[in-house]
Amino acid sequence: MSKPKIFVTRAIPEKGFELIKEFCDVDLWPHELPPHRNELLAHVHGMDGLLCLLADQIDGEVMDEAGPQLKVISNHAVGFDNIDVNAATARKIPVGNTPDVLTDATADFAFALMMAVARRIPEAERYVHNGKWKTWGPMTLLGVDIKGATLGLIGFGRIGKTMARRALGFDMRVIYYDRREKKPSRDLQATPVAFETLLEESDFISLHTPLTPDTHHLIDSEALSKMKPNAIVINTARGPVIDPDALYEALKERRIFGAGLDVTEPEPLPMDSPLFTLDNIVIVPHIASASKTSRDQMSWMAAQNLIAGLKGERLPNCVNPQVYSSYPTK
Ligand code: GLV
Repeated sequence: MSKPKIFVTRAIPEKGFELIKEFCDVDLWPHELPPHRNELLAHVHGMDGLLCLLADQIDGEVMDEAGPQLKVISNHAVGFDNIDVNAATARKIPVGNTPDVLTDATADFAFALMMAVARRIPEAERYVHNGKWKTWGPMTLLGVDIKGATLGLIGFGRIGKTMARRALGFDMRVIYYDRREKKPSRDLQATPVAFETLLEESDFISLHTPLTPDTHHLIDSEALSKMKPNAIVINTARGPVIDPDALYEALKERRIFGAGLDVTEPEPLPMDSPLFTLDNIVIVPHIASASKTSRDQMSWMAAQNLIAGLKGERLPNCVNPQVYSSYPTK
């Protein structure tokens, strides 16, 4: 019996890829950069399944180009704003994602960014490399404290809650803003507050919200103007949650202390972005989930979703369960 045909848009860790190869006839895009639109459309044609990354834009045209036999789209990421899920649902195509397995790695990384910006570690490293280290200076590279500071979490889902757990160990006060989670979390000692209160009271603001029309440029010039002068903004969610021009102005004028970005708008950030001219920002290339364990598990989970979809089974992690007729519509 012939195997189902699938297109995999980039090399993924062996753990998941081995499983996929056993079950599928794989067309693997071998390059580091994503396929261009025309290449994506050409490769997806006639496929039964698609395994894609967050850098691939998958919309109705891609689905239609694949053809009516397309049974599943498996995203190798927890976020799925790169996929037009409504278009997939309208075509009864289940879409899979990879939640949970990157929660700890992402929270660890958000914390690492918080500490790097607060204690100016990349700036200090540049200082040493540039030969500026002449002596021990009582006022050299002073940063801000983490202990006792208020951490404001925007989004209190899996990663937000894990941040709160980490913050307990640093004796931080934790507040959060989340439209769905309104009850104080006793075990995590985290208190829900209004968005404005979070902006006004937080020393660290860490974003853990999906990118939706509601969260696009949620951190704009108005939001930044409400923050404390010592505030540090951390984004490990999605770049467009912050307006980059507004962030640049706030950082340049030192209206806030600093920012740490794992994600940017656009991605990758062009080298002529004014953000690169600032010394109070740390920018890294979307690697919060990039621990070996976490990426292995993501590939495994993406493979499980893909194979379930090809077999006509329910995906273990499906973002549009409405495609299953037994799913309650209300
Ligand atoms: C990473 O950003 C992911 O969504 O998995």
